[in-house]
Amino acid sequence: MGPEIHADADVLARQAAQRLAELSGEAIRSSGCFTLVLSGGSTPNRLYERLADAEFSRKLDWGSIHIFWCDERCVPPDHPDSNYGMAFKSFIDRVPLPPRNVHRIRGEIKPRVAATAYEKKLRTFFFPGHADLPGVPGFDLILLGMGEDGHTASLFPKAVALHEQKRWVVAHHVKELESWRVTLTPRVINAAHDVFFLVTGPEKAGCLKEVLQGPYRPDELPAQAICPASGRLKWMIDAEAAHLL
Ligand code: 6PG
Repeated sequence: MGPEIHADADVLARQAAQRLAELSGEAIRSSGCFTLVLSGGSTPNRLYERLADAEFSRKLDWGSIHIFWCDERCVPPDHPDSNYGMAFKSFIDRVPLPPRNVHRIRGEIKPRVAATAYEKKLRTFFFPGHADLPGVPGFDLILLGMGEDGHTASLFPKAVALHEQKRWVVAHHVKELESWRVTLTPRVINAAHDVFFLVTGPEKAGCLKEVLQGPYRPDELPAQAICPASGRLKWMIDAEAAHLL
């Protein structure tokens, strides 16, 4: 599927919210619930704000929607950098989502402990009573952003986590940011039914061209490591980010 190019970031956010609403309806009709995985960053945040607008909020069956995170910065939930905190303010606090449906990564505890605890939470949710099964969770929809260096989730260039085959969630220190992050591994992201990459702004254009049209170098451009095994991958881009394609 070729990238979908939208006039600007607002149009893109509306289109993504519309598609998300359709996918949630389909998933809830077939399995009774919709598992949605969020990212941090400003591009996904515009979409979260749309979800709380009456137009979309009324369409969504919040009681059947479960919210997870792709990655978290290792800070408390009320810290301005917290991905959970951002989503909470943009929509979770503004819609009738039952608190038990919100499954956050605990950025306030030791990173490795938070990663292990989050993986345990996911295993219990997806394989209740059989948490040791070797499979991976099949999230309904994962939302991803992309940094100017080609990182996605908290998978930064040269991250060892890019090659992790066993664990679903890892903690690692990101040298460039001098901070710890907890992230899902590509193996888990690639098992999702649908993945949206949301990319906006002229500063992303050069990297986007490399990721989509350059040689395959996932260690340098982690966004290239995202390639769902049997799910669908959709690139949603605004005109500014797309201008070199
Ligand atoms: C994070 C992320 C990260 C983000 C991209 C894009 O916590 O920072 O999950 O992967 O989505 O960096 O962020 P922007 O849309 O702000 O550029």
